[in-house]
Amino acid sequence: MPRQAYVNGRYQPHKEAAVHIEDRGYQFADGVYEVVPVHDGILVDEDLHLDRLDRSLSELRIGAPMSRASLKLISRELMRRNGLSNGFLYMQVTRGVAPRDHKFPKGAKPALVMTTRQMKPHSEKVLAEGLKVITLPDQRWDRCDIKSVSLLPNVLGKQAADDAGAYEAWQVDKKGMVTEGTSTNAWIVTGDGKVVTREATNAILNGITRISLLELIRKEGYDLEERAFSVEEAKGAREAFLTSSTSFVLPITQIDGQPVGNGHPGILTGKLRQHYIDYVKSLRKTA
Ligand code: PDD
Repeated sequence: MPRQAYVNGRYQPHKEAAVHIEDRGYQFADGVYEVVPVHDGILVDEDLHLDRLDRSLSELRIGAPMSRASLKLISRELMRRNGLSNGFLYMQVTRGVAPRDHKFPKGAKPALVMTTRQMKPHSEKVLAEGLKVITLPDQRWDRCDIKSVSLLPNVLGKQAADDAGAYEAWQVDKKGMVTEGTSTNAWIVTGDGKVVTREATNAILNGITRISLLELIRKEGYDLEERAFSVEEAKGAREAFLTSSTSFVLPITQIDGQPVGNGHPGILTGKLRQHYIDYVKSLRKTA
């Protein structure tokens, strides 16, 4: 069976699935989304993702498209239809379809789209060599805590990274402090072994991988500081890494062309990646 997508109440062949030209997501980027990782058929941290979806919707005053139980049923049905065991589920909710007008439309129904994508495990090369990041000014708005589909600065930043032969761009605020990557959270390990990541304010998206990894770090008893760090501090750090639903925990070995630490993936980074993978695997037993 060809891959399917869920669009406003119907399962359709992914290739043909479409929304209306006056969907406000299309015209105004007036919508939000979630990317939920799927590992061995399990939706990782599903409720945390749905909590964040609820929060994004309520911050933008968009109604819930349906109950949480219904969202979960559709997620599972789409995964079943697509035979998805490893990859991710994409969920997007917009304010709905209405004649173009900036004001909130009266009576529009939130529009819901879900898709799935298979993903291969991260390559051995990435794990052995680490990733390169560049830094650039953070050009986004003051509500980066909302997971909005309005992602132009992120798109431009990721392309700038790619153009420079790097995987990710770390965005930097006006004070010279790193906020986050264009689609990942940013972390360093200091010379004295402290794990540092920026505190969750409106300046970053509070990643679900970030939340779960913070819990594991506390449980394992590693030193932790939730605070902003500068580009200079990152360049002088012992280790650096990034987190996201599609990356889990991946080592960074170069920032703006300068090696981080000894230029090899960090030892603590490797441990944290393993703790996170063990956590994801443990979900299978409790699901
Ligand atoms: N990106 N910061 C930004 C700006 C993001 O877009 C993401 C996620 C993250 C990490 O969040 P999480 O751990 O919940 O995935 C941080 C998704 C994967 C994307 O846009 O594809």
